[in-house]
Amino acid sequence: MPNVSGRKRSNTATAATLSALQQAQEAADAVRTRTPLVPRAGLILGTGLGDLAEQISDATIIPYADIPHFPTPTVAGHAGRLVLGQLSGVAVAALQGRFHLYEGYTPEQVVLPTRTLRQLGADILIVTNAAGGLAPGQHAGDLLLISDHIGLPMMAGLNPLRGPNDEQLGPRFPAMTGAYDADLRASARQAAQAEGFALREGVYVMVSGPNYESPAELRFLRTIGADAVGMSTVPEVLAAVHMGMRVLAVSCITNVALPAEGEELPEPNHAEVVATAERAGAQLAALVRGVLAALPATL
Ligand code: HPA
Repeated sequence: MPNVSGRKRSNTATAATLSALQQAQEAADAVRTRTPLVPRAGLILGTGLGDLAEQISDATIIPYADIPHFPTPTVAGHAGRLVLGQLSGVAVAALQGRFHLYEGYTPEQVVLPTRTLRQLGADILIVTNAAGGLAPGQHAGDLLLISDHIGLPMMAGLNPLRGPNDEQLGPRFPAMTGAYDADLRASARQAAQAEGFALREGVYVMVSGPNYESPAELRFLRTIGADAVGMSTVPEVLAAVHMGMRVLAVSCITNVALPAEGEELPEPNHAEVVATAERAGAQLAALVRGVLAALPATL
């Protein structure tokens, strides 16, 4: 049947027959027709945290709709564009808006943008997200440096690395022992200190969402060792580590999900999550800029 409705339709038709790597290559090829910039670092900007992209200079802005195979974000607080340019003297490509399992995307679709960043040349991935606080002593607006994760949906099979392994992407059985790069974390701690704010470190647990957790689920997540809970990040980190990228990930604690015993459980809502992330965005932006500025010294 002739394809009269343009590129998007033909992508949908061919996507099933292309490997994940081929899709990422086609996406990267399309980006390269817009800019010759080779990013050193890829950035994924989470819910309400997209403002950092506004600080990128000499920016080339590409709507996801113009990138083959990229889905369209359906969530408020996610713009849906790729911004390439300079940030703190480093060539970066920032994904302003990400995809989630709860939107109905497959794990493979969720990580296509991450794989595209790697195809463009990035070997560092900086991921941000909004998360609910589980550890005591956290406050809305705090930043949490992720030191490790528990990917509940991935452990149960919703894993972007599931299926035939493409050795050109990475190994069949990638280790996650050092997924969150120690040097980048040290650099983040230094940047926070220089900016004068506290930066705790902890374990992020991913749930699929979209519902917020029940009280019993929150107690369970805390019991298994999580300090913060969210609905993203782990798929992208798995894909990035699979491809040999160094990862830094930071949560913005947008709500205290599990308060101290005896206190009433607050009811989270998306508007509050977005508003708190936007308020904390300036600190997060300073942190990322600080890490980028220190890159030549830490590599
Ligand atoms: N739970 C899950 N995801 C979230 C939360 C939460 O409380 N806050 C922001 N993202």
